[in-house]
Amino acid sequence: MRMYDLIMKKRNGGALTEKELNHLVRGYVAGEIPDYQMAAMLMAIWYRGMDDKETAALTKAMAESGDQVDLSSIPGTKVDKHSTGGVGDKTTLIVAPMAAACGVKVAKMSGRGLGHTGGTVDKLESIPGLRTAFDRQEFFDIVKKTGICLAGQSGNLAPADKKLYGLRDVTATVDSIPLIASSIMSKKLAAGSDSILLDVKTGSGAFMKTLEDAICLAEKMVAIGERAGRRTAALITNMDLPLGNGIGNSLEVIEAVDTLRGRGPEDLTEVCFHLAANMLYLADKGTLEECRQMAEEALKSGRAFEKFAAMVQAQGGDVSVIYDTNRFPKAPCSCRVCAPQKGYISHMDTEAVGTAASLLGAGRVTKDGAIDHRAGIVLEKKTGSYVEKGETVAVFYGFREELFPGARQAFLSALSFSGEKPGRSPLLYARVEKNKVEML
Ligand code: URA
Repeated sequence: MRMYDLIMKKRNGGALTEKELNHLVRGYVAGEIPDYQMAAMLMAIWYRGMDDKETAALTKAMAESGDQVDLSSIPGTKVDKHSTGGVGDKTTLIVAPMAAACGVKVAKMSGRGLGHTGGTVDKLESIPGLRTAFDRQEFFDIVKKTGICLAGQSGNLAPADKKLYGLRDVTATVDSIPLIASSIMSKKLAAGSDSILLDVKTGSGAFMKTLEDAICLAEKMVAIGERAGRRTAALITNMDLPLGNGIGNSLEVIEAVDTLRGRGPEDLTEVCFHLAANMLYLADKGTLEECRQMAEEALKSGRAFEKFAAMVQAQGGDVSVIYDTNRFPKAPCSCRVCAPQKGYISHMDTEAVGTAASLLGAGRVTKDGAIDHRAGIVLEKKTGSYVEKGETVAVFYGFREELFPGARQAFLSALSFSGEKPGRSPLLYARVEKNKVEML
């Protein structure tokens, strides 16, 4: 089988067979297929797409390219949750302990941030001492004892995705529905949970800019999960404005703790209730309404917060910062960013807001670059707020004053103003289950 022929077949609009896709993935991971040929194949897939059979076969080949975690020795239903990526999206830090506080086991492997989007592992590592790298036995022991462990992706989980994602990132081939679906689902299948809840973001801060594309991606991922025998559902949620007010690693952990203590922003709290309820539903804990009540009760009673604190302790973190978030290390510099004109904020280009946070040091410029856990943005105003000229819209935090002008320019370029109050966009758009799309 020649890679040249496979590229030509896809370039001309053909469908690759399971055998061909296995050859492609195995050969690329083994280093037998060079980056330049795989880059050509990715671009052909970007243009031509893949049918459901091809996407499922590619996912399976990627999931089987490395270790596959067998969680069956951990008693109870294991539910995973995955977001397609956003700005200010700290929901995992809230919903995973909420679900665990209701008896669901969460044995989750998370990723790092890249580009304008944040990653759970970076956020967690802003807690002094907290570890996210464990060997298999330690990971299992923490889940058995605490009911939850949020770890980094183990070295050999879906190595095909690791290699392909790096190549996609530099060849403008990230935003392809079959490539995103296979990338996410290969990791989820290899990570071994019984059920999977997907949070598919849509809007200016998401990979899927339109609701139509987000639903299409969700349907494909749900179908892949179900075909592999995992109960899978997806919520389509709004990423046309940042979620909550904090953007940046320790700032987001602080906001997650506030939310777990019942003092979080309304939008974040509401999205978290929906996500947690759906995780509980996938674990057969009751109807969706009953599961929502369980999630609310876990928060109100403080059990979700205590579960988070127990997880931090089990993962070696300094739990005192969780009980008193003023103890988090603080950025040495801050500055206020003021509205350049009066009016309603009619739109926030959320990708540009994420880029501004990255420029402050909260995100990586290169895949292995360092980040400043203390850096980021706290929004005082969001889409729909009225501001006077000169009123504070956001506060920036960073390591050096020199970082502020570039970040300010990116941030202000994100804002649109209007004399009229914009309509409120929904937090959630749809819920996708096997063969079913329900508009919310
Ligand atoms: N997240 C992933 O893990 N993969 C993608 O392709 C996009 C977002």
